[in-house]
Amino acid sequence: MARRLAAITGIQGYVPDYVLTNAELETMVETSDEWIVSRTGIRQRHILKEEGKAASDMGKIMVEGLLKKTNTKPEEIDMLLCATITGDMVFPDTANTISEKVGAVNAFGYDINAACSGFLYALTTAAKFIETGTYKKVVVVGMDVMSSILDYSDRTTCIIFGDGGGAVLLEANEEGNGVVDSILKADGIGRNFLHMKAGGSLKPTTLETVTAKEHFVYQEGRTVFKYAVRGMVDTVKQIMERNNLSNEDVNWVVPHQANIRIIQSVASGLDFPMERVMVNIQNYGNTTAGTLPLCLWDYENQLKKGDNIILTAFGGGFTWGATFLKWAYDPA
Ligand code: UT7
Repeated sequence: MARRLAAITGIQGYVPDYVLTNAELETMVETSDEWIVSRTGIRQRHILKEEGKAASDMGKIMVEGLLKKTNTKPEEIDMLLCATITGDMVFPDTANTISEKVGAVNAFGYDINAACSGFLYALTTAAKFIETGTYKKVVVVGMDVMSSILDYSDRTTCIIFGDGGGAVLLEANEEGNGVVDSILKADGIGRNFLHMKAGGSLKPTTLETVTAKEHFVYQEGRTVFKYAVRGMVDTVKQIMERNNLSNEDVNWVVPHQANIRIIQSVASGLDFPMERVMVNIQNYGNTTAGTLPLCLWDYENQLKKGDNIILTAFGGGFTWGATFLKWAYDPA
């Protein structure tokens, strides 16, 4: 009998209704559709505009859709992990707020703050609770409301990010399908290149920090770009090697959607054909912890039971890694 794996048995994505186009950004900052498309591949992103709505409201929609799709009752969920850097509040965590909003009264859970790698970190962590037989049904949410921490007068960051994400249900699988292996990495030196300067214990919120716009994303884009390509290529190569996978064995590579040029560089570094690389950055921009579940959700109808899928991400921290999973179900 194959070892017990944690399989994704359902996925539900969500993006807010409001579409922020490159044309609208042209009216806000000194930029152009041509620059944004050629330098990033992004044509539009979705923004959570509704007054009083937050990450947990997006999570509620994702998880309710997921439960309906998988015919699961909220009280059956044992655990809910939420990967995000834009939770409703600094504390408490958003995982518990989502659980309360969907009626998952038996679930415990917590948030994972690993920026763009958050979904990989959370998926890998959650899988262990299924593999060990500790829990039967675990939900992993990956999402961000990046619009809540963006300076819409800074053209170097506001054009990149968007809001959205997705949720997956993990259940035990004895047929060899599910999360097979992960290589996760972190290097705290990366905090210098991608961070929010104030609002934490290092620099608590004051009038001065607000005036100095220190509660927004700060990024040194070129440096992050180089580390991102190297980190994703290295970990994908390592995970393929240790699982004896050639490029022909891999049905899909699912890279974090930060920049089409990063995605193309990763594919080129792996000598992997772009036809089997998932890309939807043009529609959503970079949704941080939301990009990987949004990709799987968009491509769900093309995935078949037993498909070999490599997920890879790179983000703030730095955090990065690659996960090898075998897809567990055919299209509906
Ligand atoms: O997901 C988390 C991890 N994050 C990433 O992986 C992001 C990695 N970085 C990137 O994707 C890219 O570095 C960016 C998209 C952020 C920037 O692209 P770039 O090709 O690295 O541009 P750059 O920063 O080198 O800037 C090139 C030029 C500069 O002008 P000068 O100094 O050459 O005159 C910028 O001022 O482009 C200018 N520029 C813009 N021009 C029009 C920067 N942003 C814009 C803009 N519109 N929005």
